[in-house]
Amino acid sequence: MVNRETFGSNKIAILAMAGSAIGLGNIWRFPYMVGQNGGAAFIIIYILSCFLLAVPILMSETIIGHRTHQNTFGAMKTLAPGTKWSLLGLLTVISPFIILSYYSVVGGWSIDFLYKSVFEGFKITDGQLQGTSFGSFISSTWGPIICHTIFSLLCVVIVSAGVKSGIEKFNKICMPMLFILIIFILIFSISLPGASAGIDYMLKPDFSKITGPIVASAVGQSFFSLSLGVGTILIYSSYIKSKENILNSGIGTTAFDLIFALLAGFAVMPAVFAAGIEPGAGPGLIFETLPFIFAKMGFGIPWISSVVAIFFFLAVVFAALTSAISMYEAIVAYFVEEKNMSRRKATILVFFGTWFLGLFCSLSFGPLSHLKIMNLSLFDFCDKFTSNFLMTIGGLLFVIFAGWKMKKQEVWEEFTGNGKYKLNCKIFGVFYFILKFIAPIGVGVVFISNFI
Ligand code: TRP
Repeated sequence: MVNRETFGSNKIAILAMAGSAIGLGNIWRFPYMVGQNGGAAFIIIYILSCFLLAVPILMSETIIGHRTHQNTFGAMKTLAPGTKWSLLGLLTVISPFIILSYYSVVGGWSIDFLYKSVFEGFKITDGQLQGTSFGSFISSTWGPIICHTIFSLLCVVIVSAGVKSGIEKFNKICMPMLFILIIFILIFSISLPGASAGIDYMLKPDFSKITGPIVASAVGQSFFSLSLGVGTILIYSSYIKSKENILNSGIGTTAFDLIFALLAGFAVMPAVFAAGIEPGAGPGLIFETLPFIFAKMGFGIPWISSVVAIFFFLAVVFAALTSAISMYEAIVAYFVEEKNMSRRKATILVFFGTWFLGLFCSLSFGPLSHLKIMNLSLFDFCDKFTSNFLMTIGGLLFVIFAGWKMKKQEVWEEFTGNGKYKLNCKIFGVFYFILKFIAPIGVGVVFISNFI
């Protein structure tokens, strides 16, 4: 293989992996899931799932990627030559493709909202009205398609520039900004009168609300948020230099992702409560209610409202872009390394494919809303099919692969840097036990429960 690129350092690798992990899942999905599923108790299950189930999957992907330094398909071919495992490598080219298609549509919405907050401002002071304007935007034909196209093209520009000068550079600029922006919004949000009810909602668990489906949603959310089961973590880990400590990369990524989700929750919920809005509003929460809250609650000073709205949607766009490029990369690397395509050609190919499928996802809110697959619109189908099915099966297969197919010695070598990292050596036993038994059973149960 000719001169495969690597990330500059492990810190940068963590930044990029956190960039993949931190996305619409944290800033758009997490707050509304918390709101729909009962607040603090959901958060506690979410945190447990991150460390007991998600980290083992994440480490499995990292071990496989870092050991082979190849794309998902190549990695499986190298570690299990001549077996059906290469199908898992192929699956993890197809899954990010489907996720990307609808993810770019939501990325497009956030571009539209950023545009509106810069050029038009959110002057509507009636929550209901804002809801309908969001609804009429996403169900219209051209606006969302244009924004989906712009979002996808931004990804093309970044990914075609390469791992170092595209992905690494973009994450280096965006990620620190993202944290600054969300902290700024959080401070604004918790200083609103009436915000404390939202803080209580995030902190005081009511376990009587916990049901099976809520546990499954919390686990599913932790997988989605950490970009698991579809090869994006695998591909980024394959760009980590051989000598680096991958336990640090894995734990660092998980910690950043979790902290960011919590920050986003504390940025959104207090504002929602301060405005007296129902926290269980669902997927429209940040698009329908936040602009309204910002508009109404700028302490009566219009420019404050505008600045907060611009910062918020800027953060959403950044978060979405750093995640989308990781999905691009998983597919692009496959075409470059397995099909000898140039990076630019591969990126453009992925663009057209995901743009085309995304077109239908976008139209499924309006002109094509009558088209149903298993009683779901195309957008919802792609979302449910990937997050409930492809990601869990991918995650399950990755832990089974690392826990049962790879030799213990191989896993040990990767996990401990060949014995170089003392702490890793100490905790290897516990990790391996979780990897081999707890994680496959846990993920398996979640997988089956999705069908019940
Ligand atoms: N984790 C990202 C988010 O929270 C989205 C994402 C990136 C993703 N790559 C993925 C989700 C792979 C599933 C699979 O928004």
